[in-house]
Amino acid sequence: MFKSLGYATRLARASRVPHLACRRVQPAITPIRPFSVTASRAGRDNEDIDDATTSGEPGSTGDHEGQYARTREDIVVEYPEEKDLPPSQPVVGRGGVHALRTLAAFSMEGKVAVVTGGARGLGLVMAQALVTSGADVAIVDMNREEGQRSAQGLVDIYKQENPDSNKIPKVTAHFCDVSSPTSVNQSLAEILKEHGRVDNLVTSAGFTENYDAISYPHDRMQKLWGVNVDGTYLYAVAVAKHLMERKVPGSIVMIGSMSGAIVNVPQPQAPYNAAKAAVRHLASSLAVEWAGAGIRVNCISPGYMLTALTKKILDDNPDLQKQWTSLIPVGKMGRPEDLMGAVTFLSSDASSYVTGADLRVDGAYTCT
Ligand SMILES: NC(=O)c1ccc[n+]([C@@H]2O[C@H](COP(=O)([O-])OP(=O)(O)OC[C@H]3O[C@@H](n4cnc5c(N)ncnc54)[C@H](O)[C@@H]3O)[C@@H](O)[C@H]2O)c1
Repeated sequence: MFKSLGYATRLARASRVPHLACRRVQPAITPIRPFSVTASRAGRDNEDIDDATTSGEPGSTGDHEGQYARTREDIVVEYPEEKDLPPSQPVVGRGGVHALRTLAAFSMEGKVAVVTGGARGLGLVMAQALVTSGADVAIVDMNREEGQRSAQGLVDIYKQENPDSNKIPKVTAHFCDVSSPTSVNQSLAEILKEHGRVDNLVTSAGFTENYDAISYPHDRMQKLWGVNVDGTYLYAVAVAKHLMERKVPGSIVMIGSMSGAIVNVPQPQAPYNAAKAAVRHLASSLAVEWAGAGIRVNCISPGYMLTALTKKILDDNPDLQKQWTSLIPVGKMGRPEDLMGAVTFLSSDASSYVTGADLRVDGAYTCT
């Protein structure tokens, strides 16, 4: 581990380290599978052609198919310490009064939603989408202070953007480590005490980090799966149990990632990718298991999103930013606000016949 180095420094260093000696050094930004690396058949004998196909030895003709689609074991990024994380703000200008006609089914009026990992980043903006759409929200997060600040921030922005509103949404913050069953149950009990009931859940608590699989510290891998997989499962089960006891329908939205369907390059992150594949399939499996109880379970799989955290990393590493962006067909990273419509759709009655779905919000990354 690289405890003595700052987070950004580690990533900057990692992205500067050249390939291992046995590999060809790649330029920082490389087109993906350019046609120029495919051997021309004209004027070549059969042996040359074989060399350039999958029957040839990798690297035998110089460039080889697939060489730009590999991960790099020299990239190491550990999830930062709490004190090194940049603060995150609710968005401004998205929640104001409007008189545009829209489907009533998209309204979250009268609902109570829990958002895990809602203190910051994507969770905070999705919580804001639900508040703007009419819900009361309970933010659940391991970061107690930021959770409280964000809950207050959501109410302040709502008031600022809806000065004539006669109903101020209730937004509360609750400490929880979602990987602990005890902590999950304690926080849900606290939420039920304050809000009386829960109708919706969005599980956004999660994190990623980059180590090659051979070197991934086992304790960190368990923590990663504990938060991303166990945490999603535990909160979903707790809320589903509450809905079943009340005999009412509900909607659960799990935040997966495009990494659950593709393998990101160049950074290695096998356990995270597997965790997000698990989240996606957990959503499908629970959708089937709980369909009879009227509980819908869907997954949102975001692509590369520009949160305060990713922005800081990429500002420090413009090459990595260019490399990531070059892989996205729409040519830019997503903004957290791009998830506002998706989470509102899947949480509200607008999607009442949608369950077990995976909604990719990735600028078509996974289409290529
Ligand atoms: N940012 C992206 O580009 C991106 C892309 C795809 C998927 N995702 C997923 O979206 C989710 C949110 O990511 P983000 O970028 O907003 O991250 P973030 O780090 O900004 O926010 C994550 C939040 O989860 C909280 N958290 C972490 N561990 C927790 C625990 N054990 N219990 C309770 N809360 C905990 C953190 O305190 C933080 O507030 C994650 O599941 C992530 O894997 C992010």
